[in-house]
Amino acid sequence: MGAVAVVGGQYGDEGKGKFVHYLVHEENIKIIGRGNGGCNAGHNVYDPERGVALALHLMPSGIFGKDTVNIVGDGTVINPHNFVEEMDAVEACGVELSPNNLKLSSRAHVTLQTHRNIDGATDKVGSTAQGIGPTYRDKAVRSGLRLEVFSRPDWQQVVGALFSAHNDELALLNRKDLRVDIDEELKKLEKSVARIIPHICDTLTYLSNELANGSSLMLEGAQATMLDINHGTYPFVTSSSATAGGIAMGLGLPPTAVTRVIGVFKLPMTRVGKGPFTTLLTDVEADLHDKLAGIKGEKGSEFGATTGRARSIGWMDLVMAKYAQRVNGFTDIGLTKLDMLSGINSLKVATSYMLDGIEIFDMPADTSSIERCTAVYAELAGWEEDISGVSNFSDLPINAQKYVQFIEDYLMVPVTMIGTGANNADLIKR
Ligand code: IMP
Repeated sequence: MGAVAVVGGQYGDEGKGKFVHYLVHEENIKIIGRGNGGCNAGHNVYDPERGVALALHLMPSGIFGKDTVNIVGDGTVINPHNFVEEMDAVEACGVELSPNNLKLSSRAHVTLQTHRNIDGATDKVGSTAQGIGPTYRDKAVRSGLRLEVFSRPDWQQVVGALFSAHNDELALLNRKDLRVDIDEELKKLEKSVARIIPHICDTLTYLSNELANGSSLMLEGAQATMLDINHGTYPFVTSSSATAGGIAMGLGLPPTAVTRVIGVFKLPMTRVGKGPFTTLLTDVEADLHDKLAGIKGEKGSEFGATTGRARSIGWMDLVMAKYAQRVNGFTDIGLTKLDMLSGINSLKVATSYMLDGIEIFDMPADTSSIERCTAVYAELAGWEEDISGVSNFSDLPINAQKYVQFIEDYLMVPVTMIGTGANNADLIKR
C-alpha cells in the first residue's frame, strides 16, 4: 500500500501532530518512523484512551497507538539522556515500552553533552541549543559515533576520545568553562545506554521487510521544508533533510516507497530562530499578533515546545507554499488553525513577491534575495463566526470555505484535512 509522509511546508511548528494523530488512531497505521532531526523537534501527543497529553521531542508520535511500532531511523541524532527522559515520561503514562514497539536505528548518530556545549558556544542562527548542528557536523566529517558504538566492549574508550576532542575544541573556543568531566559523563551515559540498548537494531531491514509484507507505514516529518539543510533558507536552517525525500532517505526507504505526501501549513504561519520571514506581521498589526500568539503555556499558543521562545507570526505565504509543493510533491494538504482566523475582517495571502522593483512568482534561491523581498497580498474577506470544533466543511462560513479554496486553487493540490481547534478531534476531513 506504500508509505504516507507528513511534512511541514513552512518553518516548522505547523501542527503536523494533529494529522499524525489522526492517521495513527483513525486509520490504524502500523509503523511510524522519524527519519531526521533529534530532540530539537517538539510535538504534543495525546492518548485518547488514557486521557493524557505529553510534549515529546524525538519519540515518534505513535507511541500511544495501539500496537503501533515506533522507529527512530538512520538519519536521526539521539541524545541518550534526553531520550531516556522521554521513555520515562511515556512509561509513567502506563505504556509498556519494549523492543517490539520502540526501535532505534543502530545507524543513528549519538549526541553527547559536549555537542550541546559546542552548539551553545558557536550557534549563529538561533538554534534550539540541543547540539543538533555539531552532531551532524561530526557525522559529515566522519568523526561522529553511531548508536552501534554502544554494543562494542570498548565503547567507553571510543566515546571518551570524542569527549576529549570536544573538550580541546571548547578550550580553543575560549570556553574552557563548558568542558566536561569525562569520567562523570561516561558514568551518566552508562545508565542511559543500559536503557536504550535493548531497542537498538537494524531498522532499515525491519522496515524493508514490513513494507514488502504490506504493512502500513507513516513517515513523521520534523522541522520543515524551509528549515531543510538543502532547500531551506540557508544558513538559517536545521542540519538535517526535513523534506519528504529527505525523511524517506533518513529511514532507509527508497523514494518509490512513499505514495502519499501530506503537506502541512499553519494559518497563520510562524517561525522561531533567525532568518527571513517575508509575510511577518507589521508593527501596525500588533493587536492581531497578540490575538494570534495566545498566552504562553496555554494549549495552541505560539511559544516553542522545546525552547519556550515566542514565535514570529505572519500571513499565509503561497509563494513559499508553491516552492514547498515543488520540493515535496504533496499529494494533499492539511491546514491547521483555521479557527484562529475568525474575527479578522480582511485576510491577507501572499501570492507574489516584489524583489528589487520586479514582481516575482517563484521563491528566490538565495537567502539574501529572499531577505529583500516584500510580499504582494491578495486580500480575502474574513468571517466573524467562531468555527472552533467544526467538523464538516459545509458548516464553515462561506468566506472560510472560499479562503480554503483559494489556497487549493493556487497550489492545485486538494486540501483534505483542516484543523479547527486545539483538540485532536477538532478536524475537518474532506
Ligand atoms: P537546530 O535544529 O537546533 O540546529 O536549530 C536551527 C534552526 O532550526 C533554528 O532556527 C531553530 O529555531 C529551528 N528549528 C529546529 N527545530 C525546530 C522545530 O522543531 N520547530 C521550529 N523550528 C525549529
